[in-house]
Amino acid sequence: MRNLYIATLCAAVLAISILGLRGRIFTRPPADVFPEWVFPGMKHDPNHAQQAESGFFSDGRSDRVAPPNTVAASYGPAGQPLRSDNFLYLGRAPDGSWARGFPGSVRVDMRFLERGCDRFTIYCEPCHGAVGDGNGVTKRYGMGVTPTYHDDRLRKMAEGEIFNTITNGKGEMNPYGDKLAPSDRWAVIAYVRALQRAQAATLADVPADHRAQLEAP
Ligand code: HEC
Repeated sequence: MRNLYIATLCAAVLAISILGLRGRIFTRPPADVFPEWVFPGMKHDPNHAQQAESGFFSDGRSDRVAPPNTVAASYGPAGQPLRSDNFLYLGRAPDGSWARGFPGSVRVDMRFLERGCDRFTIYCEPCHGAVGDGNGVTKRYGMGVTPTYHDDRLRKMAEGEIFNTITNGKGEMNPYGDKLAPSDRWAVIAYVRALQRAQAATLADVPADHRAQLEAP
């Protein structure tokens, strides 16, 4: 009998401690198991707002002054912007218009195209489709607005403008500036150009010694 009382009491205490205080808002701070005065600085970390006061530093400021000759990460040692190549980083020509072609520092070769294909498959194909006709898998899930690359407007669009679309996104398209390094964005553009060329190819594009293969049954 005595055991039954103890068991009932334990069950009641357990039920109240688990369920009883749920949702209650306390007005006083909870009991501190490791109080600050016994373990100073262990639990409450001084957390300073920018340009606020602080008793920790002798000058009373929460911010530290940068050491002499510090330069911002985006600037070179002489104070010039590191990303001064507007073609490479913004797709802009010297007169501010969208640049055509590819920046001098990238070499458009087979490796570059393969890199572009690789990045395109990861980042663009889900919407634009493997051949760039806008029939990616997202269409099946209701995203019906992805345009094809194979119309005159996009065929004639300056490479710099495509670069800007990749960097900043457009309409329903997300920006990819944070996922693709500038050189990868250019590689993707080279691959988009290859897709456009491939989809508008004529027999004259096929080397003469391969034409017979196309005509074979
Ligand atoms: C989430 C789906 C999605 C992904 C992924 C995506 N796009 Fe798009 N893209 C769109 C949509 C939608 C538009 C139409 C935007 C508009 O005109 O409002 C578009 C438009 C474009 C255009 C035409 C822009 C213009 O000025 O008309 C280009 C070029 C393009 N995308 C290239 C890319 C490239 C390159 C990638 C990969 C880095 C990519 N897109 C990834 C959905 C996507």
